[in-house]
Amino acid sequence: MPELGGRFASLRLPLRTPRLILRLPRPADVQGLARAGDDPRVSRWTFVPSPFTPTRARAYIGRLRRRARAGEGLTLLVEETRSGEVLGIVGLSVNPADPSAVLYYWISPRSWGQGLGSEAVRSVLALAFGPLRMHRVGAHVFASNLRSRQLLRRAGFRLEGRAREVRREGERWQTELAFGLLDREFRARGRSRSQRSLARTK
Ligand SMILES: CC(C)(COP(=O)(O)OP(=O)(O)OC[C@H]1O[C@@H](n2cnc3c(N)ncnc32)[C@H](O)[C@@H]1OP(=O)(O)O)[C@@H](O)C(=O)NCCC(=O)NCCS
Repeated sequence: MPELGGRFASLRLPLRTPRLILRLPRPADVQGLARAGDDPRVSRWTFVPSPFTPTRARAYIGRLRRRARAGEGLTLLVEETRSGEVLGIVGLSVNPADPSAVLYYWISPRSWGQGLGSEAVRSVLALAFGPLRMHRVGAHVFASNLRSRQLLRRAGFRLEGRAREVRREGERWQTELAFGLLDREFRARGRSRSQRSLARTK
């Protein structure tokens, strides 16, 4: 049975970036993924269960693979090319009716702050607005998740709205922010980036 269905059927994987390989998760990734994601700094902001045991990681991988086969969501495992270490995931949940998707991602806290999350996200955005022909990619992030907000802004996302008191965390309610990026905005950023690098070489 093909691993990719629906909109994803004709995609060519894996994706490669300067430091990363982005590929479909396999059953053999259970230990690596559990090691990367078993951390409260990941589960706090995502649907990754805590503790993220190998049994739970197996179920998680199974779910991601089923969604990719059904064409509902494409979740790629983020692997560091040099070490072969599993760092996390980045994915797109697609709208069945319209060319729009929601972006999600997490990276092992051991590897934060090196631009790896941004590198993985940029690559998946190029896929979304390139071969997948998306018109829009959205993302939801809790207001106190400053790293993720910063990542989205640097990737070109705009803040579109806020949903107040969505989730309770201890004594406090969390506000959720909605971000969005349109295909024309993504392309305009690509053009201005290449103009800047051209200007530097002149
Ligand atoms: C969000 C996440 C993927 C970022 O991964 P990362 O590899 O550290 O990302 P990057 O290194 O590309 O940096 C992200 C930005 O946060 C900034 N940052 C780092 N620490 C920060 C802090 N304490 N406060 C605010 N911004 C911070 C970085 O400087 C960087 O911004 P820059 O591009 O302007 O330099 C990672 O922190 C993560 O997995 N978090 C838990 C799961 C999660 O929140 N997922 C998203 C749900 S919406």
